[in-house]
Amino acid sequence: MITSALPYANGPLHIGHVAGAYLNADIYVRHLRALGKDVVWVCGSDEHGAAITIRAQKEGTDPKSIVDRYHALIKDSFERFGISFDIYHRTSSELHKETAQAYFLELEKNGSFEVKTTEQYYDAKAGMFLADRYIQGTCPNCQNPSAYGDQCEKCGSSLSPTELIDPRSTLSGEKPELKETSHWFLPMERHEGWIKEWIEKGILDGKPHHDIDQWKKHVMGQCKAWLDSGLHSRAMTRDLDWGVPVPLEQGKNKVLYVWLDAPIGYISATKAYCEANGKDWKDYWQNDESQLIHFIGKDNIVFHCIIFPILLKEHGGYNLPVNVPANEFLNLEGDKISTSRNHAVWLHEYLDEMPGREEELRYVLTSIMPEVKDSEFTWDDYQARVNNELVAILGNFVNRCLVLTGKYFEGKVPEPSESETPEELKELFATNADEVSTAIQAYKFREAMQAAMMGARIGNKYLADTEPWKLIKTDEEGVKKILFESIRIIAHLIRVMGPLLPGTSEKLKGMLGEGLDAEGKVVKGGALGEVGLLFRKVEDEEITFQKEKLIKEPIAEEAAQMDVKAEIDFETFSKLDIRVGSILTAKPVEGADKLLHLEVKVGTETRQVVSGIAKHFKPEELPGKQVTVLLNLAPRKIRGVMSQGMILMAEDETGKLVFVGPESAIDDGSEVR
Ligand code: MF3
Ligand code: ZN
Repeated sequence: MITSALPYANGPLHIGHVAGAYLNADIYVRHLRALGKDVVWVCGSDEHGAAITIRAQKEGTDPKSIVDRYHALIKDSFERFGISFDIYHRTSSELHKETAQAYFLELEKNGSFEVKTTEQYYDAKAGMFLADRYIQGTCPNCQNPSAYGDQCEKCGSSLSPTELIDPRSTLSGEKPELKETSHWFLPMERHEGWIKEWIEKGILDGKPHHDIDQWKKHVMGQCKAWLDSGLHSRAMTRDLDWGVPVPLEQGKNKVLYVWLDAPIGYISATKAYCEANGKDWKDYWQNDESQLIHFIGKDNIVFHCIIFPILLKEHGGYNLPVNVPANEFLNLEGDKISTSRNHAVWLHEYLDEMPGREEELRYVLTSIMPEVKDSEFTWDDYQARVNNELVAILGNFVNRCLVLTGKYFEGKVPEPSESETPEELKELFATNADEVSTAIQAYKFREAMQAAMMGARIGNKYLADTEPWKLIKTDEEGVKKILFESIRIIAHLIRVMGPLLPGTSEKLKGMLGEGLDAEGKVVKGGALGEVGLLFRKVEDEEITFQKEKLIKEPIAEEAAQMDVKAEIDFETFSKLDIRVGSILTAKPVEGADKLLHLEVKVGTETRQVVSGIAKHFKPEELPGKQVTVLLNLAPRKIRGVMSQGMILMAEDETGKLVFVGPESAIDDGSEVR
């Protein structure tokens, strides 16, 4: 039973998502399928929670439109990229609602919850309780200033709003008030004993459950750190109107916490898949012989290693995960991937802009996968890996071998009289497939890809050493043998690349045609299929285009995390005329202790500006200072003076105003864009 984190349906997928929880799982699952294992791999859209409602508010629409739009986009991108889920479900489905509600009622019946009335942060202006992403503050563990009410995405700790230092509403930016409300709490402290033993020793109910040495160190580390700080009661319901309704009279107007509802989504997705395929979902979730594995990113660790296991155990009957091979984060061109700053490579855009290059992205992302530490994607590295490895090694080997076979043996697999495997290939055939397989099973996908490329490297060397293109003049029998062995290498590559580069593996099958039997063995005399190019070189222009896009497109500030005003379109923005000006004079405005009357020279014009900065600067400090000025704000009479623009300043942490603008002298009138 394999799961991949359900992505929030609040935005498109980027390469960081792909490398985090989907490509690795896809390789793993394809490998299990090839071994003939009975495996189900589920995923789907996470369509509830504040991630969705906040996005809807930002876009000025309703949550349903948001999830419908992004669910379709995400599902389609996964399909086009060749991610082979058995099902891509969604948590807004009726089946999921029933499943999650029944699960909740079972926990309620088992006495797993405590209903408590506590004070929660409340935004009076918005008239709502502030949970999860509606509240931000400083993380008590790592001091990240933009931790959410339920989670710090920087250090991974899972939080309660009341633990945040300096909490503020993400709706108004204000410090919220406290107001009483009742919720269903999961008293996690009750579970400290067994969960510690399970995480730290791999022992469950006194019996060995899994091998802790197979767990990644960073996963174990995060769990231990969390356990060491003690488990606390956490609310499992919310005062929201978007989500799975609490199925009880006293829970009117409340919904399940998204981190209760979403992982149950794995179960409902499995039900949907099994119903459609004549299988029993319980065989995968409630059977001793089934193993549960969660593929996730590191920001999801505590939810999958501690909270969901508690929920599974409390329900009873369910398997607990034998491993949670979380990946770390992928950075992009020296910076964190950021949705809000549009610093990302979006999967759907990649697929549109680089058509036919799915395998190239798979190859590169697997080669740099952030398995045990953060890693980095750059377009130069992408180009180098494609051109120097896929094209120059894998593509080149296959091409040389098949073109020569076409030329010398009419496109049929040669039939050497004796074919004892040459020394230099023996080890490859004997051990390479196992190496690849072992690496995949240990979640070492980078290593698996490297090992799989060995076939092509060795093949290239074999051809370079034996030089069949020269030998053909004197020893046709020798050439038959060389090309036969080379085709055996291709057959080997088809096998080991199956899970890693499935598209390439399929293409190679097509090229070998009747030269390959159903078991993957080379058929002497079999007619090859059509031989084409496996990979095209990545040209400089393609890379330049992508790099420029990253530089040009950052739109918003590091922001989803902040209280950002409603989105405006580019046209609206471009109506602003902001320029650099120099303050010529500054004097107080009579009867107004906050205002200064400024004369600002902007290019050829001098403007009168009345500005509320008197508390921050003395008039004599200002002449000669450069500022940015919004020039086309409608003029307004303030205290008898016509103000013809607005100067722009920023407020620092202490509330002090600072000039924002050119650090070094710049021509007045320069446009700010
Ligand atoms: N939507 C969450 C995220 O993107 C992941 C949910 S995984 C599941 O971080 F457990 F809830 F399904
Ligand atoms: Zn933190």
